[in-house]
Amino acid sequence: MSNNILIIGFGGHAKSVADCIIRNEQYNIVGYTDVEDKKADFPYLGTDDVLKDLVKSHAANAALGMGFMGGADIRDRIVEVAEKAGLRFPVIADPSAILAKNAAIGDGTFIGKRAVVNAEATVGRFCIINTGAIIEHENEIGDFSHIAVGATLCGNVKVGRHCLIGAGTTVIQGVTIGDNCVIGAGSLVLGDVPSNSKVVGIVKGVKNE
Ligand SMILES: CC(C)(COP(=O)(O)OP(=O)(O)OC[C@H]1O[C@@H](n2cnc3c(N)ncnc32)[C@H](O)[C@@H]1OP(=O)(O)O)[C@@H](O)C(=O)NCCC(=O)NCCS
Repeated sequence: MSNNILIIGFGGHAKSVADCIIRNEQYNIVGYTDVEDKKADFPYLGTDDVLKDLVKSHAANAALGMGFMGGADIRDRIVEVAEKAGLRFPVIADPSAILAKNAAIGDGTFIGKRAVVNAEATVGRFCIINTGAIIEHENEIGDFSHIAVGATLCGNVKVGRHCLIGAGTTVIQGVTIGDNCVIGAGSLVLGDVPSNSKVVGIVKGVKNE
């Protein structure tokens, strides 16, 4: 039972998470919870209301299958319920991801195919470091943030909690992005972005020296 894992929420992102779990051969997926049966390749176990019972009968571990595209985020509430029920959330990193030995990665974080987390970077809890994203040296990424596919964060970048850094975006070295920010896909961020901002394109902000 200790290597059993269940997936909470089964949308598109959950398919990537499930594939990484299978490729890692570390955990056995026993099924998923969701508001409804998604007819996935794994057994539907019920809604999140059954999490407590599932800990006893099925699994000690869980992975968050819910994606995050900015805006209101219910993932932290679901995590709170699941952790209270006794589930633990291991880091799920695809075997093709490259993680520096001294990078720190929080519980429940997902690291997708060919993503890189480089030296002395700190990635919070329940982040999504998606396919091919690059988190360079000494970055600090806050809890529940999503660094989307192919985004590049140069050295010493700080990203707050509950942020979406859009697909293919580049953030240059030393930039600080606050909490609850959305940076549109394909943006180039040259300066700091305050909390609760939504920005796209070339973002000059306030340049760091
Ligand atoms: C920025 C984003 C969140 C949309 O925000 P929104 O407030 O709903 O914006 P809208 O779609 O109403 O677009 C508003 C304007 O911004 C433009 N715009 C939207 N996204 C843009 C982007 N990424 N870059 C440049 N311009 C963008 C629109 O063309 C529109 O321009 P207009 O006013 O001249 O017509 C979305 O476009 C985006 O980039 N999301 C990230 C997607 C992503 O990275 N997914 C990751 C998958 S792993």
